[in-house]
Amino acid sequence: MKRIFVTLLTLLSVVGASAQWYQPSEENLKTREEFSNDRFGIFIHWGIYSMFAQGEWYLQNAGLDRDEYAKAADGFYPHRFNADEWVSAIKASGAKYICITSRHHDSFSMWDTEASDFNIVDATPFKRDILKELSEACQKQGIALHLYYSHADWSRDDYPQGRTGYWVKGRDRSKTSYESYFNFMNQQITELLTNYGPIRCIWFDGWWDHEEDKTPFDWRFDEQYAMIHKLQPACLVANNHHVTPFEGEDVQIFERDLPGENIHGLSGQEISQLPLETCQTMNGMWGYKIVDQDYKSTETLIRYLVSTAAKGANLLLNVGPQPNGELPAVAVERMKEMGEWLAVNGETVYGTKAGDLKQQVWGCTTRKDDRLFVHIFELDQDVLYLPLECKVTSAKVFADGKPVKFKQVTGGVLLEVGKVADTVDYIVELRTR
Ligand code: GLC
Repeated sequence: MKRIFVTLLTLLSVVGASAQWYQPSEENLKTREEFSNDRFGIFIHWGIYSMFAQGEWYLQNAGLDRDEYAKAADGFYPHRFNADEWVSAIKASGAKYICITSRHHDSFSMWDTEASDFNIVDATPFKRDILKELSEACQKQGIALHLYYSHADWSRDDYPQGRTGYWVKGRDRSKTSYESYFNFMNQQITELLTNYGPIRCIWFDGWWDHEEDKTPFDWRFDEQYAMIHKLQPACLVANNHHVTPFEGEDVQIFERDLPGENIHGLSGQEISQLPLETCQTMNGMWGYKIVDQDYKSTETLIRYLVSTAAKGANLLLNVGPQPNGELPAVAVERMKEMGEWLAVNGETVYGTKAGDLKQQVWGCTTRKDDRLFVHIFELDQDVLYLPLECKVTSAKVFADGKPVKFKQVTGGVLLEVGKVADTVDYIVELRTR
């Protein structure tokens, strides 16, 4: 009996050890840290779907014929696209990185890929490799570039049908071959990591198309992730699969929710030790949607960014460029205003860690070493009680350095801040030990 037990234990430890194959490289760990310090990035969803102005899911949601949809490429001429202007507008927001859709679920590639003609150079009259232009502008202006890449595909014959893309017409499903599709993806990813300079992250999306419990499916991520880590060891692998990270991933993503929350139904998964990122829309849609002009206010966006940092996560805030290649004016305005706020208050966001307290009705907290930033969005009483475990040694208003009276009490501290209203974020800086 004892022998069986020992054998079992040995077996278990072998299985356990083999499940732990991923050892992030030094460069990778360095990027993780850099990434976490950034706290703010801009997401760009752009492709031929912008021409239909119905969001990036139009092909599937409208049940279109893939060949009819593909004809849009021949009319795609985004003559106002200017990579330098995009990068400047994005930098003005205070964001430290850009993540752009290199290829979304519709299968259209936004770079000069050899793996398929359905791309911006071969299939459009525009013929410009916008990814090349953008990567050069990013390098020139010093901002990191991340690439969104879809695992799911609604147009290709070889992609195994998942739970979306069902209504798309014109696909020859007898030609399904994951081997062929896997090679296609890897060829594309190799191009992306070879010809476009340093790519700081590959941001996958679409695993959920073959959710494990419904249709068991082997994506062979281990091989793909290893390939990425070999091609650019500093590049992070992120996957928007809505579950806890798989081995080989370097970032944990949350879609439309702060880590630990689940208002939109795609999150709520356990929080890992990896760097965290929440992606969110500025209006309601990722790709350009003409009827959706419901942009969140600058105040809401700033508070969302601060609340994300308070959870120890980055915010990846989305903008959907227009079919003419311009970023929507409202988005540019929002970014400018966020940047103005960050230029003054960025110290309480960049390079911070999660604060000591959970999100509170009045606001939240972020921490940098012995400094605890108390972000008060609204307070309708004069005294704020903070249930802190640490001791407070000083308190001042972040904006002007004016001292704030405080009193250490059992289980926390009382701050005499006075009522807070009509301000985006009233920040009190505490020194603690
Ligand atoms: C979802 C959608 C996709 C979007 C992504 C952004 O997974 O399928 O359209 O790109 O979220 O987070």
